[in-house]
Amino acid sequence: MFCFTDAIIIYTFCFNPVYIVYRDKVAACAKHFVGDGGTVNGINENNTVASGHDVYSIHMPAYYNSIIKGVSTVMASYSSLNGVKMHANRAMLTDFLKDTLHFRGFVISDWEGIDRITSPAHANYTYSIEASINAGVDMVMVPYNYPEFLNDLTDLVNKKAIPMSRIDDAVRRILRVKFSMGLFENPLSDHSFADKLGCKEHRELAREAVRKSLVLLKNGKSPNQPLVPLPKKAPKILVAGTHADNLGYQCGGWTIEWQGLSGNNMTDGTTILKAIKATVDPSTNVIFEENPTPDFVKSQGFSYAVVIVGEVPYAETNGDSLNLTIPEPGPTTITNVCGAIKCVVVVVSGRPVVIEPYVQSIDALVVAWLPGSEGQGVADVLFGDYRFTGRLARTWFKSVDQLPMSLGDAHYDPLFPFGFGLETKPNSH
Ligand SMILES: *[C@@H]1O[C@H](CO)[C@@H](O)[C@H](O)[C@H]1NC(C)=O
Ligand SMILES: *[C@@H]1O[C@H](CO)[C@@H](O)[C@H](O)[C@H]1NC(C)=O
Ligand SMILES: *[C@@H]1O[C@H](CO)[C@@H](O)[C@H](O)[C@H]1NC(C)=O
Repeated sequence: MFCFTDAIIIYTFCFNPVYIVYRDKVAACAKHFVGDGGTVNGINENNTVASGHDVYSIHMPAYYNSIIKGVSTVMASYSSLNGVKMHANRAMLTDFLKDTLHFRGFVISDWEGIDRITSPAHANYTYSIEASINAGVDMVMVPYNYPEFLNDLTDLVNKKAIPMSRIDDAVRRILRVKFSMGLFENPLSDHSFADKLGCKEHRELAREAVRKSLVLLKNGKSPNQPLVPLPKKAPKILVAGTHADNLGYQCGGWTIEWQGLSGNNMTDGTTILKAIKATVDPSTNVIFEENPTPDFVKSQGFSYAVVIVGEVPYAETNGDSLNLTIPEPGPTTITNVCGAIKCVVVVVSGRPVVIEPYVQSIDALVVAWLPGSEGQGVADVLFGDYRFTGRLARTWFKSVDQLPMSLGDAHYDPLFPFGFGLETKPNSH
């Protein structure tokens, strides 16, 4: 059977997989199925308590979209749904994902995910294998002791605790993805695109994404005195903050290393400080002081300051926080600088953080999220070469005791509501 759609779509709509080798396609994975963003207190790997309506209308739509587009694999979440570990959740993995949604790729487990079906992890590995495979996991991520997994799985199949039909289904799904990827024709990775990594064209696209994702939350202490776009030409300006000159902080967790890094030697890119220096008028004197004292700020005759602070990189459990504060010296830098001169604060963080106590003292407030390597996108918009157009994709809380708080809740009293974002006109300089 021949299908002249793209390779990723093929196995979704064609009964017989065909191999059409598209060297510029990859097998994508949608994860973590399902509800991992809704756990109690936002704690990693925790339990999500949700009605059927919430599961299908809040947590599932991204999977509907990925499956329609032919995603090859779906990863089970470490988290539980209404008390059932997702790695052992047959109702969701098999009955809903495979049978109802007709997902035809394979379900893959997370790193030692089946071990964590029991508490403590690996307490009953035979049970973990039986429960996960019978729930619908097709490929198992076993980072270390794979002979133990193979032996126990074989025993379970020989004892008929796991039906051979389940193994056949898993193998069929894995082979279908491999055939449609062309792995039987070209099993080794193709290096012909290696020179595209980090190329100018891709960096330009990333920079555009930075420009479009910035959200302007406040602009001027009164609406008729906006601070941004900032003037490029000024005698002397101050750049401050832990996140002004730190590519690792801009990139966040899961960059180069699991928990991310600090500093500028981990990858090529442009820090926000470097971008500001490249954007202002050559006559503008840019002074960088990471955490200046109020006396320093007052005494230097700065026209204005850009303060760039935020969270430090994290991934998974290391990102759990019940206070969602910006770590020191971030708040001190805001207070010291914004208490002394006109300032724009740029927050670099993966999520809304506590900002309410400082908003009054801040003249203009921008959230840059995690802009990644292309910090030039921040300066493009701050200095008016492009407009601010981004809007909040999350509600921004006043204090953490309001959480969870979502648009539509009876008591919705955010600092900035879902969808908020001020716009600017391009600068006329
Ligand atoms: C492991 O789980 C199985 C199935 O629930 C149970 O029959 C068995 O007793 C458990 N083994 C241990 C050592 O707890
Ligand atoms: C980057 O800097 C850190 C800290 O100074 C150092 O430990 C690390 O080896 C450096 N990495 C590279 C690739 O130079
Ligand atoms: C906020 O929570 C984080 C993570 O638990 C912790 O490391 C930090 O010390 C807390 N900060 C404050 C101000 O309590």
